[in-house]
Amino acid sequence: MWLYFSHTPLILLASVSFSRRASAQQLQAHAWPLAVKSPYLSTWYEVGPAPVPLNSTWPGFWNPNTNTGWYCSVQVDGVPYRLMGGDTTPVSNTSMSFSVQITPTRTIMEVQTGPVNTTMTFLSPITATDLTRQSLPFSYFFITASSLDDLPHEVKVYSDITAEWITGNTNIFANATQDIENGSLILQASLQFPQLFTEINDHAQDSTSVYAMKNGSGINYQIGAADVVREAATNSSGLQNSIDKTINAHLINNPLDAWGISADLGSVTTTTSPAVWAIGIMRDPAIQFTMLSSEVQLRSSYYRMNFSTVDDATTFFLKDFENALNTSTQFDLQIANDAANISPQYYDLVSIISRQAMSALEITVSKDVNGNFNSSDVMAFLKNMGNIGDGGVNAVDVLYSAFPMYLYLNPDIGGYLLKPLLISQDSPQYTQSYAAQGLGSNFPTPVVANTSHNFGIEQSGNMIIMILAHLQASADNTIIDQHYLLIKSWADYLVQNSLKPNSQQTSSSDGILSLNQTNLSLKGIIGIGAMAKISHFMGMESDASNYQSVAESYIGQWQNLSLSLNQTRLLTTFQAEGSAGLIYNMYADKLLQTDLIPQSVYEIQTAYYTSQLASSKFGIPLDSSAPDLTRADWILFAGAASGDATLQRSFISLVHSYAFFPSWNTALSPIYDPTTGIGPVGQGINRCAS
Ligand SMILES: *[C@@H]1O[C@H](CO)[C@@H](O)[C@H](O)[C@H]1NC(C)=O
Ligand SMILES: *[C@@H]1O[C@H](CO)[C@@H](O)[C@H](O)[C@H]1NC(C)=O
Ligand SMILES: *[C@@H]1O[C@H](CO)[C@@H](O)[C@H](O)[C@H]1NC(C)=O
Ligand SMILES: *[C@@H]1O[C@H](CO)[C@@H](O)[C@H](O)[C@H]1NC(C)=O
Ligand SMILES: *[C@@H]1O[C@H](CO)[C@@H](O)[C@H](O)[C@H]1NC(C)=O
Ligand SMILES: *[C@@H]1O[C@H](CO)[C@@H](O)[C@H](O)[C@H]1NC(C)=O
Ligand SMILES: *[C@@H]1O[C@H](CO)[C@@H](O)[C@H](O)[C@H]1NC(C)=O
Ligand SMILES: *[C@@H]1O[C@H](CO)[C@@H](O)[C@H](O)[C@H]1NC(C)=O
Ligand SMILES: *[C@@H]1O[C@H](CO)[C@@H](O)[C@H](O)[C@H]1NC(C)=O
Ligand SMILES: *[C@@H]1O[C@H](CO)[C@@H](O)[C@H](O)[C@H]1NC(C)=O
Ligand SMILES: *[C@@H]1O[C@H](CO)[C@@H](O)[C@H](O)[C@H]1NC(C)=O
Ligand SMILES: *[C@@H]1O[C@H](CO)[C@@H](O)[C@H](O)[C@H]1NC(C)=O
Repeated sequence: MWLYFSHTPLILLASVSFSRRASAQQLQAHAWPLAVKSPYLSTWYEVGPAPVPLNSTWPGFWNPNTNTGWYCSVQVDGVPYRLMGGDTTPVSNTSMSFSVQITPTRTIMEVQTGPVNTTMTFLSPITATDLTRQSLPFSYFFITASSLDDLPHEVKVYSDITAEWITGNTNIFANATQDIENGSLILQASLQFPQLFTEINDHAQDSTSVYAMKNGSGINYQIGAADVVREAATNSSGLQNSIDKTINAHLINNPLDAWGISADLGSVTTTTSPAVWAIGIMRDPAIQFTMLSSEVQLRSSYYRMNFSTVDDATTFFLKDFENALNTSTQFDLQIANDAANISPQYYDLVSIISRQAMSALEITVSKDVNGNFNSSDVMAFLKNMGNIGDGGVNAVDVLYSAFPMYLYLNPDIGGYLLKPLLISQDSPQYTQSYAAQGLGSNFPTPVVANTSHNFGIEQSGNMIIMILAHLQASADNTIIDQHYLLIKSWADYLVQNSLKPNSQQTSSSDGILSLNQTNLSLKGIIGIGAMAKISHFMGMESDASNYQSVAESYIGQWQNLSLSLNQTRLLTTFQAEGSAGLIYNMYADKLLQTDLIPQSVYEIQTAYYTSQLASSKFGIPLDSSAPDLTRADWILFAGAASGDATLQRSFISLVHSYAFFPSWNTALSPIYDPTTGIGPVGQGINRCAS
């Protein structure tokens, strides 16, 4: 949902003033991001249509089949209040939650706890140009307190996590360890029998969870049965700095244990420095990447080049808190400012999806033959959470939708995502004449599928368009240098097929649309025009002029097949009068400045969209043949392509009303019914990567 134009200093984004405080009632998300930093650190407050206050419910993993137990309480003048968690004991008093504020990196909740306001902040930093920090699978949770009556009050804060964070099946055994290293109190949990590169319910079965805080006076921990630990945290005994020795001997869920840390903030009028927990889910190696030649690479998260142990990484992350908060505050301000000119609602949308989109990435490096990290071999892998389309890892159509965000934040990331796709296909073992859909369905064990499929124009067009977009934004020509002939073979496929897509499809999540889709054909033609620019960049002038003249000739023919006879709209099926919908691939012509589509066609389509604004409450159908299906990303692409600021604001407003209409309780899905605002509930979560 991020839109970006290579030569305009804008991303088409939102603009609530940065300090605006949205009350939970006014702005009710499907789910609020809490710790959302990596494919396996993705925990949400699942709000939904019938919200239960966070003080009475468990935060949930993005895949809602499993919980991620996370609990928080405070004691004010000895009176306990529960702020987070569905436990019923031991808290005796009530907390009153009164505000939620969301920024691209933070979810901030203020809660009144007796005579004190307590603020809980969930911070998952976004540092797209600092890959060490970006790849650290850690988030912060911190608490500040301030007195409501200007009198000092005794404040103690407590929080724990359970071993539910490291498994999708709690009928197994976990281990607990505790360490105080270089000033950090670090509590860890691992499975007793980790299963390498294996997922259950989307949880990695080979991870270590970390719950940590800087050591100091008034800091205590306890690991043991959750009810015992939580009770001890809120009675006068306090935590015992102990680990229950029976943890190894019982199943994770019987009883559930808590890895808990408390901080006594003493007598508080206004806290001078917050109580800060670090939460992390760590794995190494992170990715097992297999080539069609059967060569296997074990790849580590990028941060491993700096921090080789759990303790090193955790200690760094805790020490980095103040810097991270500063950087995140500045980042949020930058996004708010860039969004400000577009629409009063774009910032809300970007705030709700930025962490979701960045956390889908695993940014990795390989090791050379001597076992040393090779810092020039960076690749990124995107877990397709919710299975949009069917490309699996680095699903090409999902990357296409997310790409504007990477171009804006750090175009190199786009290159790191394209690289494993290109390397996998630039091999004698890859025998399709068009681009693959992705790197197979198994995260974290990507391998390209060398199988025929019905998305040849879609994926070949997507690849060439993204390759040129990356080149234009980064000026890095390594990819086109290394893979020119492969890219050219896809362009030749587009030359053969773009004007007769026949039964070829776009993303399978777009529904089964009719034959000869104009929007798909257009992607192929823009792909050919993009190839002309790539060839020109390589100095291959005869290729360049060949592709350019084909693209120009095709766009004329495309117009004849695609415009309605009365010239009031683009059809969605060649020559099918009465068909209509979102021709969202026009965005690529603007993004890449291929300038193939005549201005008159843009104007016709803008007028058509404008005439349809009132037709559905939450959006415009992707295709008139399926009025119950649309996609938020494609609506925004269509709006961005129009270049019409009023239409863009209207489209943003439609998507905003969907995003903040609490029809469902998981992270936002781009796919929904434009009339009801409800997503495809039965069919998994379909989270967006963009
Ligand atoms: C939770 O917060 C709500 C307000 O949002 C309040 O009405 C309720 O009493 C609180 N419950 C507990 C157990 O603190
Ligand atoms: C809960 O808080 C209220 C208001 O601060 C107080 O009057 C009451 O005694 C507290 N209840 C308990 C059980 O501590
Ligand atoms: C406590 O929170 C309320 C509601 O946001 C706010 O009006 C008030 O100023 C806060 N008080 C203090 C001392 O922070
Ligand atoms: C967990 O504990 C068991 C028994 O103490 C031990 O054999 C095993 O190596 C430990 N596993 C891990 C991953 O620490
Ligand atoms: C943790 O901090 C406390 C208070 O500063 C100190 O007494 C204790 O020795 C520290 N623990 C370790 C292992 O450094
Ligand atoms: C506090 O709770 C713990 C755990 O239930 C219990 O062992 C301890 O005796 C309690 N302390 C007091 C003073 O009640
Ligand atoms: C990681 O290591 C590199 C190379 O030593 C250094 O330039 C960089 O600043 C380090 N990053 C962090 C976050 O410590
Ligand atoms: C602790 O600090 C020492 C000295 O700076 C360093 O050698 C060691 O690696 C650190 N250990 C951890 C776990 O950070
Ligand atoms: C964070 O920002 C504050 C205020 O702008 C400044 O005083 C402080 O030095 C900064 N801290 C870091 C670690 O950058
Ligand atoms: C490091 O990676 C780069 C890029 O993949 C490769 O060209 C180079 O040979 C690698 N270096 C070593 C020492 O393996
Ligand atoms: C698709 O359009 C082409 C014209 O470009 C036409 O030749 C072909 O018959 C059409 N295919 C179908 C299935 O309608
Ligand atoms: C133009 O043609 C379409 C059918 O392709 C029809 O639905 C629409 O009502 C017509 N519009 C006008 C203004 O005639």
